[in-house]
Amino acid sequence: MAKWVVEDRKVKHVYWPSDAMKKRAWISDESFYREGQKDPVKFWEKRASEALDWKKKWKHAYQQGKKPWQFKWFVGAEINACYNALDRHIKAGSGDREAIVWVPEPTDDKPKTYTYKMLYDEVNRLASAMKKLGVRKGDRVSIYLPMIPEVVISMLATSRLGAIHSVCFSAFSGESLRDRVDDANSKLIITADGYYRRGKPLDLKKNADIGASAPSVKHVIVVKRTRLDVAWNKKKDLWYHELLKKADKYCEPTFVESNEKLFLLYTSGTTGKPKGIVHDTGGYLTQAYWTTKLDFDLHDSDLFWCTADVGWVTGHTYGCYGPLLLGARMLMFEGAPDYPDPGRWWKIVADHKVTVFYTAPTAIRMFIKFGDQWPEKYDLSTLRILGTVGEPIDVEAWMWYFRKIGGGRCPVIDTWWQTETGGTLINSLPGVGPFIPTVSGRMFPGTHHILLDEDGDEVKMGQGGYLAQVPPFAPGMLRGVYRNEKKYIDTYWSRFPGYYDTSDGAVMREYETIRVTGRVDDTMKVAGHRLSTAELENAINKHKLVRESAVVPKPHEIKGEVPVAFVLLKGQAKASDALKQEIVKHVDKMIGPTARPGEIYFVEDVPKTRSGKIMRRILRGLLKNDKDLGNLTTLMNPECVEVLKKIVGYKA
Ligand code: PRX
Repeated sequence: MAKWVVEDRKVKHVYWPSDAMKKRAWISDESFYREGQKDPVKFWEKRASEALDWKKKWKHAYQQGKKPWQFKWFVGAEINACYNALDRHIKAGSGDREAIVWVPEPTDDKPKTYTYKMLYDEVNRLASAMKKLGVRKGDRVSIYLPMIPEVVISMLATSRLGAIHSVCFSAFSGESLRDRVDDANSKLIITADGYYRRGKPLDLKKNADIGASAPSVKHVIVVKRTRLDVAWNKKKDLWYHELLKKADKYCEPTFVESNEKLFLLYTSGTTGKPKGIVHDTGGYLTQAYWTTKLDFDLHDSDLFWCTADVGWVTGHTYGCYGPLLLGARMLMFEGAPDYPDPGRWWKIVADHKVTVFYTAPTAIRMFIKFGDQWPEKYDLSTLRILGTVGEPIDVEAWMWYFRKIGGGRCPVIDTWWQTETGGTLINSLPGVGPFIPTVSGRMFPGTHHILLDEDGDEVKMGQGGYLAQVPPFAPGMLRGVYRNEKKYIDTYWSRFPGYYDTSDGAVMREYETIRVTGRVDDTMKVAGHRLSTAELENAINKHKLVRESAVVPKPHEIKGEVPVAFVLLKGQAKASDALKQEIVKHVDKMIGPTARPGEIYFVEDVPKTRSGKIMRRILRGLLKNDKDLGNLTTLMNPECVEVLKKIVGYKA
């Protein structure tokens, strides 16, 4: 058992790293923090030189234009992401090192290990084939694949060509894919015939075909995973394995200026349509490399398992680029955490001797429910470091994770970041600490955040405020919203002039730590996934019998939050359970099962201001049984609140 230095406080514990952890860790003192504080640009410039192979060095490490959002890192430098993730390891003689240990869902399928050389060979072939299909620098490629190695291979093949990938989570619907393909104007989709979920093969191709109906799509490359009999369009569809067989063995990487786009990733904002977050190449890769290395203290002997799907930013940075840039070993799992039983994840940790494990609080809460007998069945003693991401973690989940999974040995690294930030920004480092339940920790060296009140003034220690980033902005930060500069400026740069607005609330705590309390906009975190109320309302409103709807989050024991829909039906429609089911199915089709409402209430009216704006705050209060629902006198229809109280069973 590691010797923790535990400080007892009234409400919680503060853990500091043991001597053994400090000895092993890349960073165990304040030097990096001091260096980053003194001159953040110099700090990152040095880190970029140390971490990556650049074809051409930059003219300026950081350039800040007149407007805060006009910033660039490593101006004039040339780099290729795939070259850095693969070629240079091969050149350094590490081709035989394991890159990906892939665990399929069916237990009778054998795990497959890819060395760096194997990955390199397959990526080169795929990139050659894509080039023959006409994919060039700057083109967009949509990737709609499950957790199979081909998803990483496709991302790397795209970046090898200097093209831009846009991954769409495979559990999103065909309509969601189509929206993203249309917005990005993708030439190519890479997908699969299907994948396994809870023992069943699911047809992914039929969804992909909805995306492929977008006029920009010239070709669809299909990975054979399940051998399901799928629909085939002879004009567009090509089997992945057949293409690779014929493809050239080597494809020259296309080096791009550091600020060229590496990928788009669509995420929910406060409006109905997800927005394409734009990430650049050199800055993103620099932050991916250093945060992976230092947050998880990765060494050659480690096996890193980030459980996030590559469809989310966590999977991009910590399930693809970060570990591969480092030449590290990572594990990838195809399936559901509880298939064939709730011990599956812990069996994988034990079988493969995972040392660093990174997951979401929602998963931890689910495992608490399953019971201690599942992790207790397996030897988890190889674990050294645990991480969490995606939403605030509660004390109970933190302590259970720390004790039951980490055996009280492993620091819990609570990483705060966003799709927009590209990499982690707030978390304590394993060799420095402190580790405090519910507190993310310190700002990553070389980055700076402050907490502001409504007027944009800094709040005092211990008080809540809006979390904002101070320039120079971190190298991994987004560079835009794809083809929508107005939205980019309005969303992130307007509320607090001069700063990046995170849309999160937070509290500054002792030891220079920050506790992030959650979103302050109309988005919610459902099982760690970001969802906007407007996006869901839009989808529900498209149902033929729906007149209007209002969606608000309700606290949920496992998922953190679930969406609850208040639905107003059209005149002729009758409220029924069957109609509820139909609306749920409709949401599945429009967005995907991750957005399913936990509850649907058919109502006559929802509270509105005199100008007709829905007062979601009141609906949220009703669901949380808030004593104070706020001032109702300014409403156009205050009487509806009493009716709603009965409908939702309000008890305050
Ligand atoms: O509210 C914060 C929450 O997740 C949001 C970002 O969501 P997304 O772009 O989907 O990215 C999730 C994975 C990086 C943030 O605005 N969030 C993320 N990590 C934490 C968190 N809230 C509290 N603690 C965290 N560690």
